[in-house]
Amino acid sequence: MKYIDEVSVAHKTVLLRVDFNVALNPNHSIADDARIKQSLPTIKYLLLHHNKLILIAHLGEPTKRNAADSLSRIANRLRRYLPDNKITLVDDFLKEQDLLKKQNEGEILLLENIRFYPGETKNDPAFAKQLAALADVYVDDAFGVAHRKHASVVGIPPLLPSYGGLLLKKEISALELVIKHPRKPYVAIIGGKKITTKIKFINKLTTIADYLLLGGGLANTFLTAQGHTLGASMISEEDLSLAKKILELAKREKTTIVFPKDFVVARDKHDKTSVVKNIETLQIHDEILDIGPETQADFGAIIGQARTIIWNGPVGYIENPLFKRGTDFLYYAITQNTNAVSIVGGGDTLAAIANKEYLDKLTHISTGGGAMLEFIENGTLPGIEALEKSPVAEK
Ligand code: 3PG
Repeated sequence: MKYIDEVSVAHKTVLLRVDFNVALNPNHSIADDARIKQSLPTIKYLLLHHNKLILIAHLGEPTKRNAADSLSRIANRLRRYLPDNKITLVDDFLKEQDLLKKQNEGEILLLENIRFYPGETKNDPAFAKQLAALADVYVDDAFGVAHRKHASVVGIPPLLPSYGGLLLKKEISALELVIKHPRKPYVAIIGGKKITTKIKFINKLTTIADYLLLGGGLANTFLTAQGHTLGASMISEEDLSLAKKILELAKREKTTIVFPKDFVVARDKHDKTSVVKNIETLQIHDEILDIGPETQADFGAIIGQARTIIWNGPVGYIENPLFKRGTDFLYYAITQNTNAVSIVGGGDTLAAIANKEYLDKLTHISTGGGAMLEFIENGTLPGIEALEKSPVAEK
């Protein structure tokens, strides 16, 4: 694969796939625009080289055109970051070909949510062709969506000279640091709700990490699989057998799995008061909503010694500030260890650390959720393979 800074892409019309699938607040305003900001270097680089940009992005998982999933808020936010460029949201590129023909240098066209077109998620070759027909060159900077076999990710590279963008390059080189020759001790911190969606990732990390620190609903399921009863806490019954398998794998691999030993509990996740309990004193109505202070101390000591740290998933119900302290503690413990390569990713994790101080102390903040997990599992992604195979990439 070639990246845009290794070839000369200038004075061209460029179809640029970005991941603007930002976290939204309940009122649909933008909660965290890190993904927009992280795509700016590629946008600016291509503009500097006198290219006309047509941006492709998605938001949510719409099954049909609807106002709530429009990219209009994204276009406005982009205008804030690129005040000198005209940014036009193209409602339907199939009908508004004149807009595309009249595009001036420096003007950016943002195609409306690409998932409004059924051909996108079906990877319909005819739809990929309609997209490819808009431009001379394709650039993929959407690491977060590179695990999807969608038309705008894998359908276009066979049809146009195709290159990776600067964010894609940054993501791949950072994640390779923790896959290829990681320095030890290697500590993986995994939180979040369900094991099922992360099973292959957890399996992979069990084979490469020295320590797995588990928190969140996912840890509850492991503790239940070990025979503990956890009051009214969330557990995922269907994941119990997976949890047992991972425990056996960890034994074979001599990977130490560290579980929470105390918890912040309440009757309900919306409660305004909480207490700290250990695993023996949990009662039938107690709901585990965060890790407790002794667990923080255990996790903190291991994180402090680490040379490689990978973190995906909060360890508490972070929507309520009362149960966010464990996740905040992990963040500060990781950013304090400046001897370690530290990689953090996943939508919920990014929301938890958004706007924090010391973000520059992390080696890399991945814009990928599922994509980061799959890249660590497999060492590649369909979108990356498509760029590698693109027969015209060398032209
Ligand atoms: C993400 O949010 O992880 C990416 O934008 C991919 O979105 P998706 O999970 O809806 O395909």
